[in-house]
Order: sequence, then structure tokens, then C-alpha cells
Amino acid sequence: MISAEEMFHWPIVTAEDEEAVVAIMRAGIMSGTDVTRKFEKEFAAWLGTTYALGTCNGTAAIQEAFYACGVGPGTEVICPSMTYWASAAPAVSLGADVVFADIDPDTLCIDPEDIEHRITSRTRALIVVHYAGHPAEMDEICAICRKHGVKVIEDVSHAQGSLYKGRKCGTLGDVAAISMMGGKSFAIGEGGMLATNDREIFEKAMSFGHYERIAASRYSSPSEKVAPELEKYAGCPLGGVKHRMNQTCSAMGRVQLKYYDERTEEIRKAMNYFWDLLADCKSIRAHRPAADSGSTMGGWYSPAGLYRGGDIDAYCEKVRNAGFESCWPGANMPLHIHPFFAERRKPESLPHSENIAKNAFRIPWFKHFDKEFIEEYAAMYRQD
Ligand SMILES: Cc1ncc(COP(=O)(O)O)c(C=O)c1O
Repeated sequence: MISAEEMFHWPIVTAEDEEAVVAIMRAGIMSGTDVTRKFEKEFAAWLGTTYALGTCNGTAAIQEAFYACGVGPGTEVICPSMTYWASAAPAVSLGADVVFADIDPDTLCIDPEDIEHRITSRTRALIVVHYAGHPAEMDEICAICRKHGVKVIEDVSHAQGSLYKGRKCGTLGDVAAISMMGGKSFAIGEGGMLATNDREIFEKAMSFGHYERIAASRYSSPSEKVAPELEKYAGCPLGGVKHRMNQTCSAMGRVQLKYYDERTEEIRKAMNYFWDLLADCKSIRAHRPAADSGSTMGGWYSPAGLYRGGDIDAYCEKVRNAGFESCWPGANMPLHIHPFFAERRKPESLPHSENIAKNAFRIPWFKHFDKEFIEEYAAMYRQD
């Protein structure tokens, strides 16, 4: 049987990653963009978008996406409450208000039923988070947003490779922003990516944080051709920020990308096996789309279970006593009641987000398909 250390270790790094990273350091091109551009091209081809833009982290990519969608002073964005702060806070940094919506308790993604009444004439964008790899209900969400002229940003930080009805998450809205920090299923250190089919969004994102990438810059070689109204800003970023990706990360990203589908296929097999073993348990349910839906969980980043019994604290304690010390209730904290947001806008009640610690719990993130190992862990979770 595989060891726990090997089962849970991530990312998988081989001599190929090491050589690629060291080559960048030896060549002294950490702050260049040539390798990043290659990575962007390969990533866009893998994802299925026309453009991709590497950033220093996912938060930067989200800020660029907001900016490129017209988010600024006096505007509003809609965001699910239960997510990491970076899905929302970059809108505040641009001078916008964040209006939180509740989550669907089964998908843990924004509830399509809780969106439309929050749209006002000031709403510029809605950000969707495919939570813990689970695709959000994109058909309904995009239809509502299209009707009101609101841009859809996909935060794909948990869901690199997830499919929604057969289509890749990150290709379904107007623009995607993706974290690739060291703990994610697509992990390259501190890094991020913006991806879109929309040339205008791509150019605006580039001009926001990539002063050396837009045309006519005396710093740039080669440069991108951008619209004349942006070209004049070459050499000084409109966002007043520098979002360039470190090329040691781009180099690792190029190697990781080659093996990503194969490695996450094994994760999916392992995680699905775990849940199949527990399918008859009354108080717990898998957090995953139906097997025949064409939707998948990508790399199952930060996986959760759904609790539908009486006392989640007692349940998690039993699992911990049985041997898995990381079984705790909850997921991300609800953002609408965090002082950072609540001091700006009086929070209203969002019951599913507020009850997350009663309805969701942590499960192991298996990286390999080892039946015996997974069966042992499933037995710990079988408590009714
Ligand atoms: C949902 C979500 N959005 C955005 C981010 C921000 O990405 P980064 O940490 O790469 O800035 C993260 C995680 O870190 C995340 O989990």
C-alpha cells in the first residue's frame, strides 16, 4: 500500500520541473516574458481560449478581470459569500462595492436563484467560483447576466480542468482568472492566469498590470498590438501595479501542464472511488456533479463532503478519532459578515453561506488510486 506521505503529497515534481526552473535561474531571465508567453500559449490551447495572460498570482488576475470588465468607482460586482477573499476584495481595491449572494448548499457555488434581484444599473460583473472544483450552474448564471448586460468572470482557482456539461470551466463566461499558487491542483508557486476569447478584455488586462507588454513601449520586445487608446499608456500600467509572472513559475507551469490531465484523471478516479464506497451512508453526501451530467471536479482541490445528519461536530470528532485528523466542519468563511466587507455594506442574511460549518466538512484529497488506502479512509468516514 502507498504511504500517506506519497498519497497526499502535491504537486508532483520531477527532474523535468527542476531542470526547467534551474535553467531560468542560470540564464538570469526570471523577470523576462519569453517563457511566460510560451506558457500562456500552451495554457490557452489546453483551456480552449484565444488569449491567456500570466500574472504574479491569482488575485492579480482577478483584479485585472474586474478592471477589464469595467469595474471601478461607483460600480458593483456580485460575488458568492462563501469563497476566498480574493474573489471579491480586488473589486474593492478598484473602488467598487461588493454585493454578496448566497450559495447553493449542494454545489457550494453561487445560487442562480439569488442573483437577478441583486442586479442594479451599477452592476458591471458577477464573479462565479467553481467551488472546490465543482462547476457552478453556468447556463442559468450566464443567461441572467447576458439579459442584464453584466459580464461573467469565472474564478477557476479551484477548478483547473473541471468540466461543465462537457465544456471546460474557464471558457464559459467572458473572462477567467485562475490561481496557480503552490497549494492548488495546478500548482506552480505564486502565479496566476487570465484567460479570455475577448480581445478588448485581454488588452485592458494587459494595460492594467503589464506595462512592458503593450505596444510602443520602449521596454518591450516583442510587444502586443493594442487599441490606440491603450497604446499611449505603454511603459506605465493603468492599474499602477506590476503583475508580471516570475519565469521560474512559467517554466514549472509548462512542465506541469504536460502531465496535468493524466495526474488529475488519477485524482478523479481516487476521489470518486472514495465517495462510491460511502454512497449508502445516510448523513453524508458527496460534493460532486451527477455521474451522467458531463460535469467533473477537475483536480478536486480542497475537497469537501456535505453533511445532512444531526450533529456535524460529533460526526467530525468520530472521524478524527477513527484516524483522519483533518476532518473538520466548514469550508471558507462567509465573506459578507467579515468586517472588511461588513463595515462597507450592511450584511444581510445569507443562510447557506452562514451555515457552512453545519453543512460541509473536510475529506482527504487523494492524489493516487490505491484501493486499499482509500478503503481504509472511507471506513473512517462511515459513522452511521
Ligand atoms: C477561490 C480563490 N480565488 C482566488 C484566489 C487567489 O489566488 P492567489 O492566492 O494565487 O492570489 C484563491 C486562492 O488562493 C482562491 O481560492
